[in-house]
Amino acid sequence: MTQERLQLLFPPEQIAQRIRELGELISTDYSGRQVAVVGVLKCCFVFLADLIRGLDLDVTIDFVQIESYGALREPTGPCTLVKELGIDITGRDVLVIEDIVDTGATLAHLLSELRARSPESIRVCALLNKQARRRVAVAVDYVGFEVDDVFVVGCGLDFSERYRALPGIYALLPDEPA
Ligand code: IMP
Repeated sequence: MTQERLQLLFPPEQIAQRIRELGELISTDYSGRQVAVVGVLKCCFVFLADLIRGLDLDVTIDFVQIESYGALREPTGPCTLVKELGIDITGRDVLVIEDIVDTGATLAHLLSELRARSPESIRVCALLNKQARRRVAVAVDYVGFEVDDVFVVGCGLDFSERYRALPGIYALLPDEPA
């Protein structure tokens, strides 16, 4: 049996600092507007909670959940919306909060679902961006950190539902067999 090893990529202080910077940037960009924040469950919850508390804006918050990954590290097939948006976003400025954009398939699917509801605008803020793995072209307007092609956990991100509560962000490396 192989065990995973964790390698620290971003410590909690660095994440907190970057989230503060994103909050300031977003507050400036949306100054004076009301923003419909849409979090993508489950992984977004830690990042979203930290980010929204640094926004100097009038925001509403709702969540969607999309199934695209099983217990494995690769997409299991087409994306399905398993939790619908509970608010009307017609004519609203929407800010989608993602944990990580990897192949881009999940985000592309979500954006087409949201665009069909005629919002005024949609932007995306992701804590992490894995540009090297992109298969579907999607615009990510605000990025916390770029990461290489490694599987990452912590700060809401999981591997088989584990590691979400880690305050830092770690690369998950397979252990060398003995
Ligand atoms: P995409 O559709 O390939 O962009 O994948 C999006 C979703 O896959 C993310 O919202 C995560 O839930 C999951 N995911 C992708 N890469 C990672 C990773 O490195 N760690 C944990 N989850 C990941």
